[in-house]
Amino acid sequence: MSAAPKRRVGVLISGGGSNMAALIAAARDPAYPAEIVCVVSNVADAGGLAKAEAAGVTARVVDHKGFADRESFERAVVAVLEAHEVEIVALAGFMRLLTPWFIERWRDRLINIHPALLPAYKGLHTHARALADGVKIVGCTVHFVRPEMDVGPIIVQAAVPVADDDTPDTLAARVLTQEHRIYPLALARVASGAARVVADADGRERVATRDLAGPDAALISPL
Ligand code: GRF
Repeated sequence: MSAAPKRRVGVLISGGGSNMAALIAAARDPAYPAEIVCVVSNVADAGGLAKAEAAGVTARVVDHKGFADRESFERAVVAVLEAHEVEIVALAGFMRLLTPWFIERWRDRLINIHPALLPAYKGLHTHARALADGVKIVGCTVHFVRPEMDVGPIIVQAAVPVADDDTPDTLAARVLTQEHRIYPLALARVASGAARVVADADGRERVATRDLAGPDAALISPL
């Protein structure tokens, strides 16, 4: 019996691409339900471009500075994604806000990773803000994208305890380790159809995950 076809995934980056690399590495497993077919960066010298090429994945630059407005930039990105027959788009450190047009184009097939336990700490500088608030648990989230920034049905989260001597950098490093665990897990659930968006009677959305016996206890990292 042949394996189910892998879903075709495009990854959008702006920087170092460590989450992208984690997705590429996970997708090498023949049993993984997705393959990374292209990487697009809006930044010409993003470190992730070389990592993608070294891994044998097509990497393209679509520099937003060369376009008159957001939507024409996004149409150029979509052209690359369509040329590679992409079915699912994963944002991995992609630092451009996307228009509702782009987000609707990929509705429930567009996912993002954010370095905080959403809905807390949306936006930038999450670790410094969490330390300033004195919180004892931080973490990271993979979610479906909706037009509002860092909002959307949550697919997987991991919790990271805060140490007394943490700095934004030490905390970021420990959270990033967990990002590299949960992003491949979340993409696998989306690609396999195990994670689906469901809405209640009031239209409030959440993700229902099939075959999940209980909470993901393993997603709490050691200090
Ligand atoms: C990650 O912390 C991601 O959550 C945030 O930006 C960082 C990107 O890191 N959105 P990388 O480019 O994946 O190494």
